[in-house]
Amino acid sequence: MHNGTSITQFIIEEQRKTEGATGDFTSLLNDVVTACKVISNLVNKGELIGVLGSAGSENVQGETQKKLDIITNEVFIKSNEWAGHLSAMASEEMDEIYPIPTSYPRGKYLLTFDPLDGSSNTDVNVSVGTIFSILRCPGDGDGQNPSEQAFLQSGSEQVAAGYALYGPSTMMVLTTGNGVNGFTLDQDIGEFILTHPNMQIPEKTREFAVNTSNMRFWETPVKRYIDECLNGSEGPRGEDFNMRWIASMVAEVHRILTRGGVFMYPLDSKMTAKGVEGKLRLLYEANPMSFIVEQAGGLSITGRERIMELKPKALHQRVPVVLGSKEEVERVMGYHKEFDAENAA
Ligand code: AHG
Ligand code: MN
Ligand code: MN
Repeated sequence: MHNGTSITQFIIEEQRKTEGATGDFTSLLNDVVTACKVISNLVNKGELIGVLGSAGSENVQGETQKKLDIITNEVFIKSNEWAGHLSAMASEEMDEIYPIPTSYPRGKYLLTFDPLDGSSNTDVNVSVGTIFSILRCPGDGDGQNPSEQAFLQSGSEQVAAGYALYGPSTMMVLTTGNGVNGFTLDQDIGEFILTHPNMQIPEKTREFAVNTSNMRFWETPVKRYIDECLNGSEGPRGEDFNMRWIASMVAEVHRILTRGGVFMYPLDSKMTAKGVEGKLRLLYEANPMSFIVEQAGGLSITGRERIMELKPKALHQRVPVVLGSKEEVERVMGYHKEFDAENAA
């Protein structure tokens, strides 16, 4: 029997500290947690219930959808549409926003999510995750007429963000702007238990994560940073670095929260040729992860500016991402500034 703090207890106690809180937000978070427990169970059963493999369709970004992308998107909608806390949802797997059906009451929050991040890893049984972000619905305040425009808020407006990581353990990592806390799912009782209070990204780190197969397409400052890491003790950094690439952003961010490091999916010339500004999506990948990383003492930038300060232009907007230990991310930003200054002349 576990006698730790359950996520439900934790969220309620957090809510009590907020003056005027109605319990709406607490209840919304609980529904998100439930959705993640259902997804954890589906991912865990895998081919026993025939959910692996491709669905044969494409999402709005032209990516092939896995069966699990579609199923987990449905789980999120069903768990979160009925309770009356939301006005609309938006997801990686839906072209348009999803206004709460008029058969349910509409509430004052907006929810964005990537139901299954790293889904190419499901077939090979490597860790995947769910990412979510909660915003207040602006405008008329009662959330009756949700529009795409309502979602285009900068990351600094987020009320809460979190991810679930489906790895050897299922974990939930959460911020409401008051630090970052990690919970581990106790499968026997079906509850997330607080196991990682007040997570902080270690400052001094010598580990980076990037898909180096794209190296020849990167911009000069990114190439410079990674070259210096690769040159290790023989280069300007004077120390050896270690490298990881899981291809599941949730797993990479979780590693960085645990033992530090840098994760990046930078801009490259293949993207610019197609007119896209990055790989990862701002509203349901980059912003929530930036909120978590910065609440844990790290930094998250596009290369040139803080991600959470960007004013979103579109629901599925993509951005370059460099996040992790503050000093290293600042160094990457410095390299971009130097490069831009040299090339402005
Ligand atoms: P998704 O599965 O939701 O499309 O996102 C995967 C993302 C991210 O989690 C990961 O870091 C990156 O894409 C992997 O990209 P590459 O396959 O290009 O390495
Ligand atoms: Mn994703
Ligand atoms: Mn996804």
